[in-house]
Amino acid sequence: MLFPDYRARRLRETPNFRRMIRETTLLVDDLILPLFAVTGKGIKKPIASMPGQFHLSCDMLVKTVKEAHDLGIPAVMLFGLPDKKDSLGTGAYAESGIVQQAIKAVKDAVPDIAVLTDVCLCQYTDHGHCGMIQDGRIDNDSSLDLLARVALSHARAGADMVAPSDMMDGRVGEIRQTLDEEGFSNTPIMSYAVKYASAFYGPFRDAVSSAPKFGDRKTYQMDPGNAIEAIREATMDIEEGADIIMVKPALSYLDIINRLKDEIDLPIAAYSVSGEYAMIKAAEIMGWIDGQKVVMETLLSIKRAGADMILTYSAIEAAKAINSRE
Ligand code: PBG
Ligand code: ZN
Repeated sequence: MLFPDYRARRLRETPNFRRMIRETTLLVDDLILPLFAVTGKGIKKPIASMPGQFHLSCDMLVKTVKEAHDLGIPAVMLFGLPDKKDSLGTGAYAESGIVQQAIKAVKDAVPDIAVLTDVCLCQYTDHGHCGMIQDGRIDNDSSLDLLARVALSHARAGADMVAPSDMMDGRVGEIRQTLDEEGFSNTPIMSYAVKYASAFYGPFRDAVSSAPKFGDRKTYQMDPGNAIEAIREATMDIEEGADIIMVKPALSYLDIINRLKDEIDLPIAAYSVSGEYAMIKAAEIMGWIDGQKVVMETLLSIKRAGADMILTYSAIEAAKAINSRE
């Protein structure tokens, strides 16, 4: 089709035409809101590196979850900040640990929203790594049992879905087996299968003080240069029993999301991480961009790339914008 017989602008002429031919539309259904639970009461403490995000005690967290639910957001993802850290990350699988308390509080007050939980050890270990340390290395196999314990404790507290983010080999299989044996064969696993060793997690690590005390996470998280390996990671987790495959971060990895959408047949989640959020917020605060429009455009692009659902700290803001869309 050649100009002037074809004119691309004909169908861009009016808002109605533009709506009619739009290929991708962001829905509130697509959004998952991550939240940070802390102990105590009445606490809503701003996170400096993530303007608009807070450390929330369970009573305050429940309020935010209610707001999310009222806006139509289908799910939240809970993270916890324990009062104490130790070498075995015991706070992560304590029956009355912070996430376990938060799960119960949310399921009690807002039973209709899905509660997903981040399953990892790094917020709970004094060394800040996602697995156990042996001879100065992050030991894979001895970490699996603890990770399965974390997942089980979340399921027992009422979590609707667990999401392991540690990147140890074999953890999805270990968690699946443990959940099945303990009567949770209906609890799905959202695997952080394709998680890159990324500098975009910086603000999150400040928020939960989970930066590793020595070394980095490159021996377990993926190298940003690798794409074929993403397929292998996803395939491995699918064979071990994952129900949803996550790519993380999102914006710098849209090609990976797109590729997985083509090559694997499970739902794909994308995590638009703390650094992505912080960059937009910072530029918005400086008055350099229209933050809300940029957020909506980035979320749309993540969906267009192939994500079936998006974890985003902007979920509430985005849901409001979607609900008031004419
Ligand atoms: C814990 C975990 C991290 C994030 C989610 N789960 C941090 C990390 O791996 O260091 C990052 C979330 C974000 O940056 O928004 N393993
Ligand atoms: Zn971790």
